[in-house]
Amino acid sequence: GFLAGLYSNAPVEAGSSATAATPVTILFGSQTGTAETLTKKLAKQLKAANCEPKVFDMSEVSPDDLKTIQHLLLITSTYGEGEPPDNAQSFHSALMSDHAPKLTGLNYSVFGLGDSSYADFCKCSKQFDARLEALGAKRVAPMVEADGDPDEPFSEWLGSVQAVIGEASAVNTAPVEEITDSEQPKYSKKHPFAAKLLKTVNLNKAGSSKATHHVEISLEGSGIEYEVGDALGVLPENNAKLVDEIITAAGFTPDELAPVPQGPDQQLFDALRFHYDVSVLTIPFLMACARLSPHPKLREIAGDEAKSKAYIVGRGLVDPIVDFDVKFPTTEYLVAPLKSLNARLYSISSSPKAHPGEVHLTVGKVSYDTHGRKRLGVCSTYLADHKLDRPVKVYMHSNKAFRLTENNDAPAIMIGPGTGIAPFRAFLEEREMRGAKGKNWLLFGDQHQATDFLYEDQITTWMKSGLLTRFDTAFSRDQAEKVYVQNRIVEHAEEFYAWLEEGGYIYICGDASRMAKDVDAAIHKAVELAGAKSETEAKAYVEALKKEKRYLRDVY
Ligand code: 2AM
Repeated sequence: GFLAGLYSNAPVEAGSSATAATPVTILFGSQTGTAETLTKKLAKQLKAANCEPKVFDMSEVSPDDLKTIQHLLLITSTYGEGEPPDNAQSFHSALMSDHAPKLTGLNYSVFGLGDSSYADFCKCSKQFDARLEALGAKRVAPMVEADGDPDEPFSEWLGSVQAVIGEASAVNTAPVEEITDSEQPKYSKKHPFAAKLLKTVNLNKAGSSKATHHVEISLEGSGIEYEVGDALGVLPENNAKLVDEIITAAGFTPDELAPVPQGPDQQLFDALRFHYDVSVLTIPFLMACARLSPHPKLREIAGDEAKSKAYIVGRGLVDPIVDFDVKFPTTEYLVAPLKSLNARLYSISSSPKAHPGEVHLTVGKVSYDTHGRKRLGVCSTYLADHKLDRPVKVYMHSNKAFRLTENNDAPAIMIGPGTGIAPFRAFLEEREMRGAKGKNWLLFGDQHQATDFLYEDQITTWMKSGLLTRFDTAFSRDQAEKVYVQNRIVEHAEEFYAWLEEGGYIYICGDASRMAKDVDAAIHKAVELAGAKSETEAKAYVEALKKEKRYLRDVY
């Protein structure tokens, strides 16, 4: 139970001057594992500050569990269109409901992870923060929200949390450096491994509107290990042409010095190529431009919130500089409003058993035209167009919540349209290498069979060998009416439900906001139809699957 271990710290002996460790409950909501990793860090830090941290996955708790605790720290990400992570959903809706208990006497603080390039930035953490207060709890340290890379804001939050909780337990907090973490991987976002790129192949055929690249990277010499379901972090470099254009338009030369987030100044070209996000146009950058340029049109846009918001849509950093001839007095003025360049995570599409010493990715190259310019996805273009002579900086991101079952006899249903197929190529390779006897069903979709059938040869081989028990495709644009993977689920509801009844696992990968939502609805529908259940019963059935970790998603 939730409370069982909560006050289990050894009683203080009578007459002892030792201070009892302060129990602190930590809840995490995590989709890709980042929030979970931070939770572990937090627990370690609190232990060193004479607290007794108790960590819980949000799926294990209910709001009533909070009634008897004193200190709560809540870490959660937000993904898709402002949604809570899968493991936070039931706790979130229970806390938001009218039946949530009063929580007076609870001290809390919230840390949120998000990305401001999506609408509803950190919506889930904001909701938790406001709701806990509304239920009578006391916010003892202000909420901190990370936009992209969480490391710095997390340290900031940790500092203010430790100050209040440390005070409560009246101890000195241990310096951060003293905590050694034996599980700490050798390579991380801050210290990535310079890996050799072995090859990149476009999996789409001529005539496709897509360019999905199969990328093979060597991990030789790194000691990096992974499991299927994990993701690879890649530190991209910005497009050199774009960087050159920005430098010239802003009135500089590439070799002038510029500050970077960490370390000594670098040449502007390198600073912009490796350290800053020079693609996404933000409101702060637009405002910085407006302060430097007398251009009346720019003044008009920047002076009006709605016009500013409309202007940045589909535009990049380069647009206002070029459109309004903005010259920057020093390189500091140019880089100060920029966000730092973030690492990107890609679901791994290989099994380490099938490809020892290698990791494979399935990368959809992003490129489109807006406002008369070609726009390129930063990391996907970097990987897809990479010349093999330079290393790629990578690190492993463990995705503990998205694991292929250890039960080699259990049926596995894998739903992965587009690049969502990535982890399932890995799962199938893994099951083949394990000699797993469990049934496998892959549901794949893309635009056209002739040009977009990713990994066709491998899939065909697996169908022949019997590794794939079932394979269903939804080529959406090969007929007048759109067909998606979720249509196949409903069409084959009987079989789908039968697999679940046999103890099957559902795995979903790909787009979070539309596909995963529609697939979720289709799964409910299939359970209703084939299981002869009411809507409420089907909901409970799927909810139970989630609780048993038999419904797992890697969605973004
Ligand atoms: P579309 O582009 O023809 O609409 C991989 O991108 C595949 O996912 C494509 O066939 C794409 O179809 C499809 N897709 C788009 N929206 C989807 C949704 N809401 N659910 C499932 N598949 C979707």
